Amino acid sequence: MTLSNDLLLKAAKGISTDRTPIWLMRQAGRILPEYRKVREKAKDFKVMVKTPELAAEVTIQPVDILQVDAAIIFSDILVIPEAMGLDYLMEENKGPVFPKRIETASDLNSVHVAATEELDYVYQAIQLTRRGLNGRVPLIGFAGAPWTIFAYMTEGKGSKTFSHAKKMLYLQPELSHRLLNMITDSTINYLRGQIKAGADIIQIFDSWAGVLSPDQYSEFSLRYIKRICDAIQDVPKIVFPKGAFFARAEMERLDCQVVGLDWNMGIQESRSLMPSKVLQGNLDPCALYGTLANVKAEAHKLIDGFGTGGHIANLGHGLYPDTEVDKVKCFINEVKEYSASKQKVKS
Ligand code: CP3
Repeated sequence: MTLSNDLLLKAAKGISTDRTPIWLMRQAGRILPEYRKVREKAKDFKVMVKTPELAAEVTIQPVDILQVDAAIIFSDILVIPEAMGLDYLMEENKGPVFPKRIETASDLNSVHVAATEELDYVYQAIQLTRRGLNGRVPLIGFAGAPWTIFAYMTEGKGSKTFSHAKKMLYLQPELSHRLLNMITDSTINYLRGQIKAGADIIQIFDSWAGVLSPDQYSEFSLRYIKRICDAIQDVPKIVFPKGAFFARAEMERLDCQVVGLDWNMGIQESRSLMPSKVLQGNLDPCALYGTLANVKAEAHKLIDGFGTGGHIANLGHGLYPDTEVDKVKCFINEVKEYSASKQKVKS
């Protein structure tokens, strides 16, 4: 299918575009009243994730309402542990909770490498979404990085420190590597399924990269992200290592086209550490709490900072649920207009 707006794919491949493309992490979600309506009807988050019609509907909502340059499939990174045999619950106002977590070698026997087919409902959602998008914008597929998935499977819930997960790295490094390998194999199968179903580009979310030391990050995270990047060759790849400012030089050597920055990572420093990468990001999601005038100024600062090429505009992490839709629209619109006007002056 030819896309009427392929700005994101072009930018990811390093091709120059008339303006900077923009999409936002967590663009499908609670900031939109239209999402909350579907969510209320479905009652449970997991019902939404597992009903391809509902997942497709909320995936397309931000394309219509916010006018972003890409859709990201509505799902969760935690579908991988579930497919491996470790169930999770999404508790209201609390986040994910695992009734059982992985602590010992015998716990590992209760999980398996997820086969591609075990996540069929996600591929159905991707196919339905593609039909609904009808070539308007590309569709982003995604998965969690193995370390971030490991962190949830061993901690059993969200955490500020992930100390249970890190304890396992220190006390049981071999067991940790066995689980990380199983997650990596499952993720490769899963991403291949998403691409076959129609994902145009993929993003790997390493949301808890920042809790590891540089050495631990190389050993327990990057090594597995590298295995995924080497295995997936058919579409462009975005890696988002939240908090891993210390790993940027190593990121430069990964087989991925785009690296996502959070707002703690300086733009110029990131450019010099990763000269071959297209950079994505990195507005602080809290900047969208500012006045409309502030939001516009932040959009200009972002575009001035990254320049008009080699950049995909986004936030430095997902949108917070209490962000006003008008501010989000203002940011998106201003990034588009301001980057287009700067690009025109240049050419
Ligand atoms: O629009 C999109 O970005 C696509 C959908 C998406 C969701 N989760 C839907 C969701 C994506 C890409 C994710 C990825 C995800 N899930 C990550 C990585 C990105 C990040 O934020 O760091 C992580 C760590 C998770 C795990 C997870 N899922 C947590 C910790 C929570 C609870 C926190 C929260 O925001 O409520 C979720 C729930 C979740 N995933 C929601 C959505 C829209 C909110 C659930 C609701 O509707 O109540």
